[in-house]
Amino acid sequence: MNQLCHSYDVAIIGGGINGASIAYQLSKLGKKVIILEKEGLACQASSAAAGMLAAQAEIEQEGPLFQLAIKSQSMFPELSNELFDLTGVDIEFVQKGMLKVAETDEIATELKKQVIFQQNWDSKIQWLDSWEISEMEPAISPSVAGGMYLPNDGHVQPEKLTQGFAKAAIHYGAEIHENTEVLSFLFENGQVKGVKTSNGLVHSEQVIVATGAWAGRFMQESGLDLPVFPVKGECFSIKTDVPFINRTIFSDKRCYLVPKRNGEIYIGATMIEDTFDDKVTPQGIATLIERATHLIPKIKDAAWERVWCGIRPQTGDGLPYIGEHPEWKGLFVATGHFRNGILLSPITGKLVADLLVGNQDSLLSAFQLERHTETVI
Ligand code: FAD
Ligand code: GLY
Repeated sequence: MNQLCHSYDVAIIGGGINGASIAYQLSKLGKKVIILEKEGLACQASSAAAGMLAAQAEIEQEGPLFQLAIKSQSMFPELSNELFDLTGVDIEFVQKGMLKVAETDEIATELKKQVIFQQNWDSKIQWLDSWEISEMEPAISPSVAGGMYLPNDGHVQPEKLTQGFAKAAIHYGAEIHENTEVLSFLFENGQVKGVKTSNGLVHSEQVIVATGAWAGRFMQESGLDLPVFPVKGECFSIKTDVPFINRTIFSDKRCYLVPKRNGEIYIGATMIEDTFDDKVTPQGIATLIERATHLIPKIKDAAWERVWCGIRPQTGDGLPYIGEHPEWKGLFVATGHFRNGILLSPITGKLVADLLVGNQDSLLSAFQLERHTETVI
């Protein structure tokens, strides 16, 4: 274990994708940054994710979250090259498109409205009838009623993206301390002064809480009752000799299939509310298998690969918290990215870094901490 040096410009609590992205952007601006992670980099939600960059499939209405997501999505092509050039990490960015399918006529009617809305952002998005879907992806059951085709949609390997951000941050001088749990904040005269960790004190004029689903509990100590809730998601993956889907197939928020570059197909995910329990259950996986084989019958003959799960950080109103603490100067939060933390990580890193150097983007006003928090002390 490396000894903690005492003074930094910024201490980031949490080595998930958001902590790593923020560290990268801040150290690029010349800040002396430390990430404090209680276990290992990307050990929680950020390695469990499917890695979809599914702004249009996941977010169905115009608003600040959609704007944030669209902006972040557009950053990936350049980011992928930038991280590879800096670190040699290939984030496995694939942009082969997505089919969001409707399994019933009622869902098809709704999805056709979505196509019209989403065409405002990408004119290439279109509706496909059932026979067109069969031509494009023959493995999909012909019983689907049609679907929205998003030719520009993509995905990444989330753990590699986290590693890429972290290595790029190190390239610019950041330090990363794993197995270092932050136990409490150091406060003085209305200002944060650092944190107390399981390996000693860290002094810094700015502290960022990027602890994902654990942020609510953690922030209580700062007097803020931040409504952040855990939502467990279980996944499994299969491998096939010959790839039988080429694009991401998204049925609804509880069934999607993502063909990864290594030949695995990730199949997710359950949504189990209010639990930090990280067991993968036979019932969870059985439900996923049933949904996925209904959509793509051939799945039942594929080779089983693995199962896993992670805890998504959900918030009371579905929007992330990105901003400064209303009472303690220098204390910032970036959490609550729920189902879209991988997609939102590039923009989160950029906007938080800008915020810390005094440039608050107007996009952030919807994500402030004080929008419906209660002071508990
Ligand atoms: P986390 O990755 O949870 O990181 C928080 C870190 O803080 C952890 O490493 C934890 O150990 C650390 N920590 C906590 N407390 C302390 C402490 N006291 N001291 C030090 N460290 C601490 N998003 C997408 O965009 N696309 C997808 O396809 C997608 N699929 C998903 C599928 C599943 C099954 C799940 C579960 C999530 C999915 N997500 C997806 C959501 C995405 O994974 C999350 O939104 C994102 O990973 C959250 O990242 P984070 O850095 O905020 O939190
Ligand atoms: N965005 C996919 C999931 O959270 O399961």
